[in-house]
Amino acid sequence: MTQQSARIVTVLGAFLAGLVIFSAAIFFVVGRLPAPIPAPSAIGGPFQLVDQNGETVTQDGLKGKPSLIFFGFTHCPDVCPTALMEMTQIYKALGKDGDRVRGLFVSVDPERDTPDVLKEYLSSFDPNLRGLTGDPAAVAAMEKAYRVYSKKVPLEGGGYTMDHTALVYLMDKEGRFVAPFNMKRKPEEAAAELRRYF
Ligand code: NI
Repeated sequence: MTQQSARIVTVLGAFLAGLVIFSAAIFFVVGRLPAPIPAPSAIGGPFQLVDQNGETVTQDGLKGKPSLIFFGFTHCPDVCPTALMEMTQIYKALGKDGDRVRGLFVSVDPERDTPDVLKEYLSSFDPNLRGLTGDPAAVAAMEKAYRVYSKKVPLEGGGYTMDHTALVYLMDKEGRFVAPFNMKRKPEEAAAELRRYF
């Protein structure tokens, strides 16, 4: 986890704790829970990218089923392939319900990650996973909306790697952010949580 993502988790945690305390205070005062608490809207927003087949994907494309969104890049040595392998295991655990969960791998390295490169890379993982890329400004706009940090880091001997936030975001079927999704558990447990958002 990068420092930035640790910070996001901390900020989110503080925000959620605040919500709980706020709700408890209202409950204490009026003796009932307030109307449904709106989902945290601090993460998410409009974007327009293309998938590995060149099809346009926008924020509206997040509707109809829950989504797991992960930001990374195909040249990533370990974090990204690990996350995509974990997602693949979750899809396996979902079985025939796999197509009820949208899995998006958003490139933070659009310079190298063209749709064709994404297509080739994703062929090693579950076919439900879609890769998103676009022109650098469009990718940067989505990263900003999702509070994702990424930075090009030159490598000794040439080339570069990317530092990046490695959270998996769970969005509900309205396309609203729910929470960072815990990948460090049995795929069956992760699948069971996802089923609650169908
Ligand atoms: Ni990575």
